[in-house]
Amino acid sequence: MASDQIKGNQNQVWRIRPSVQHPIILDFKTDLNVKRLIPILFVGAILAGWSLPQRQADWNEVDAIFQAKCVSCHAGEEAARGLRLDSWENLVLGSDFGEAIIAYDADNSLVIELATKFSEGSHPEELGEAALTEEEIAVLRDWIDSGAPSSDGEIPFSNPDDPRLYVANQGAGMVAVIDMNTNQVARMVNLMDLGFSEFSMPHHIAVEEDGSFWYVSLIMDNKILKFTRDNELVGQVDAVRPGLLALDPVGPWLYGGRSMMSVSPPESVVQIDRETMESEEIGLLMPRPHALLTNHDGSEVYISSLAQNRVATYHDETGDLVFDDVEGDRPHVFIHFTISPDGKTMVGTSEVTSNAFVFDLESSEGIALVDTIGVLRAPWHPIYTADGKWVVFGNNWTNTITILDMEKRAIAKVIEGVEGLAQPHGSAASPDGRYVYISQRNLAMPDGHSKEDHVYHARYDFGDNAHVGTVVVLDMESMEIVKVIETEEYASGMGAAVIRNR
Ligand code: HEC
Repeated sequence: MASDQIKGNQNQVWRIRPSVQHPIILDFKTDLNVKRLIPILFVGAILAGWSLPQRQADWNEVDAIFQAKCVSCHAGEEAARGLRLDSWENLVLGSDFGEAIIAYDADNSLVIELATKFSEGSHPEELGEAALTEEEIAVLRDWIDSGAPSSDGEIPFSNPDDPRLYVANQGAGMVAVIDMNTNQVARMVNLMDLGFSEFSMPHHIAVEEDGSFWYVSLIMDNKILKFTRDNELVGQVDAVRPGLLALDPVGPWLYGGRSMMSVSPPESVVQIDRETMESEEIGLLMPRPHALLTNHDGSEVYISSLAQNRVATYHDETGDLVFDDVEGDRPHVFIHFTISPDGKTMVGTSEVTSNAFVFDLESSEGIALVDTIGVLRAPWHPIYTADGKWVVFGNNWTNTITILDMEKRAIAKVIEGVEGLAQPHGSAASPDGRYVYISQRNLAMPDGHSKEDHVYHARYDFGDNAHVGTVVVLDMESMEIVKVIETEEYASGMGAAVIRNR
């Protein structure tokens, strides 16, 4: 740590009102590739909706279909893929690999996809059994789209106390909601259905500690959205190329940084009152703000630059900004931070120099760099486990996951060569400390950043799912990947309620 903190910037905080915000910067090349399909899809969806008869199937009808055509293979100990279709409760538990249905979303439910899109033929016809008829598929669709209720009207995964993990699917305009008790997709939030573009690029998610609300940044639609626990959109704010999000755990603020896809974004972070969803900009005097995190009492916000080896500390009470420089003869390109559950230590990863930097947050000098751990290439979002023992991140360019032992400040394990690892990106931890989740982009990248195109191959070929993104589940007891959850294209940032031992 260089000792030349720029104290001269105290109280030099400007606030740019939204009305004089920077104009949108069209520096992102994908703008040119946008397929103008959306209006056609919309009209198609509306027409399809009109032509369907309105009915609501109930579980008894669904059960009758499963009894007649499915339970010969999907019941009891020997159930194919561990999927039991002999009761509503067992269906909701899914297979050994993941969910069979997603309530309110027949299109993305495996039972419907296997019956209608499976390249091997329709399931179970490809195994020589009777296929589902069109009427039966329509019954299943209606039932799933109405929430997949039990005969008592219970909707799967509707217990508000269940811990949830939100996964931004940057390539699909969707957010997957994973139930952390069963580690399967419980809901899909389709942003196109809410009027956002197919290329809105949801990037990162922040979740209230009590799970009551969650927030997502849309890079290309220049918005930050607020949803209830029941995935109802209740607020939105304009923000230029928003990237990472961080919640003030005590005060009312939600902070938004800038996406790395923008090469010259505003040199500011957005500060949103998450009650009113009104926003201001906090000017930073620092290019390309990216990593962004608040400390555990919300008094300080740490922001790093992609272009300079500099970390800014914003003091919420006074508005002061303090800058700390980290030595290095080229830009480290800080990706993201994580703070230990006791609030004393912060770890930051760097894409280009492939380091994990350990900062002491209790130093009288502000943040103090106390260790630098060299790791495999391009460490992405780091996350502390709930016990504070480990920091885990994926290495985006080597398709590996690194576990750091934070007592020894050394690498404890590198996980590699495991199915599902394909450009790791986001991270989250379960509240009980047992699991760490790492999302995987699984993009085709012919630039040497991945071992081969689409490293992960989807379990089933539906013709449109070659780049399925995944979330791998790491069991911290065995330090092995115990599950690969398939989501939608380009799984990027994730959010779960943050674990703090305050
Ligand atoms: C003849 C046995 C058989 C019958 C009948 C059968 N399945 Fe399957 N099912 C399998 C097997 C085997 C698999 C594993 C994938 C494969 O081999 O195609 C499977 C996989 C699945 C999966 C994917 C599980 C996962 O997560 O990978 C779903 C969903 C499914 N079946 C639903 C159904 C439904 C619904 C029916 C009734 C319409 C049905 N199956 C009838 C044997 C059967």
